[in-house]
Amino acid sequence: MQTDSSAPRPRFFDHVAGTRDDARAELGRTLLEPRASIPPKYFYDRLGSALFTAITELPEYYPTRTEAGILAAHREAIAACVGRGTTLIDLGAGDCRKAASMLDVLAPAQYVAVDISSAFVSQALDALQRQYPALDTVGVGTDFAEALWLPEAVRATRRTFFYPGSSIGNFAPADARAFLERLRAQAGPDGGLLIGVDLAKPASVVVPAYDDPLGVTAAFNLNVLRHVNTLIGSDFDVADWSHVARLDEAASRIEMHVEARRACVVRWPGGERAFVAGERIHTENSYKYTPGSFGSLLADAGWSTTQRWIDARGWFALVHAVPASRPS
Ligand code: AVJ
Repeated sequence: MQTDSSAPRPRFFDHVAGTRDDARAELGRTLLEPRASIPPKYFYDRLGSALFTAITELPEYYPTRTEAGILAAHREAIAACVGRGTTLIDLGAGDCRKAASMLDVLAPAQYVAVDISSAFVSQALDALQRQYPALDTVGVGTDFAEALWLPEAVRATRRTFFYPGSSIGNFAPADARAFLERLRAQAGPDGGLLIGVDLAKPASVVVPAYDDPLGVTAAFNLNVLRHVNTLIGSDFDVADWSHVARLDEAASRIEMHVEARRACVVRWPGGERAFVAGERIHTENSYKYTPGSFGSLLADAGWSTTQRWIDARGWFALVHAVPASRPS
């Protein structure tokens, strides 16, 4: 391996390190609810992030590929909407691949990669910095689901939040609205939002995307139990659990659960729970929208859509919006 000590290193702010107590409290609570759940942010330890990257390569998992196609097909129009010289804040940056594909046309004044998976995003940002030595970059390891913490190093002007991949689908609609309202407040009056959203489509397309024959999504889902074990010292035996994906068409969401293959007891410092065979732990909701329902959600959160791009099959939408009070 070649190392270049003169290469600039991104400034990285790890805000996750001190949150283990929060995880203990949160998981201690959600695991003991009548219907046990584990919030989806706990998928993303280093292995979980790598498994998600593997999911994006699956033929059945259409969102990433469809969105990448939209970004590629409309690069210039998207750049014209966003403008050059913004503070580009990539939420859930992960491997930073999507933003990297747009950096040359977006030419941001600063690129900020935010992800709950600190080690993973830090490594990805290091690699990106080697590719773009002159780019002003900031990395932030933080959980932004409830509040987005940003260090002083993040420029306050012309903040454009880039929230691709339909991760907004992990929030229930009311929570999505609150999240988008907070982003609007943090964007400021000269800010913007470039957001990707998965559109409602037939079960024959959606279900295999969350229950692939190779079992990569199953591994991603079950890995949450390993991660929880390291976070709270629980003794989940992954072999006792199986992957379940189910579509709730009325709620327009796909759910993931882990289901107990047999009766078992899980213990951790400060708690324990017995599960009967077939009992489930809810690990994720992934809401799907229509162009209309998503436009309403944005409007309710104080964002005004400037432009929207949808692929030819009508599977995925990329939307650019500005604060509603600003004429676009
Ligand atoms: C990263 C939240 C957009 O909901 O499709 C992939 C995560 N879950 N396969 C999604 C996921 C199962 C993904 N998001």
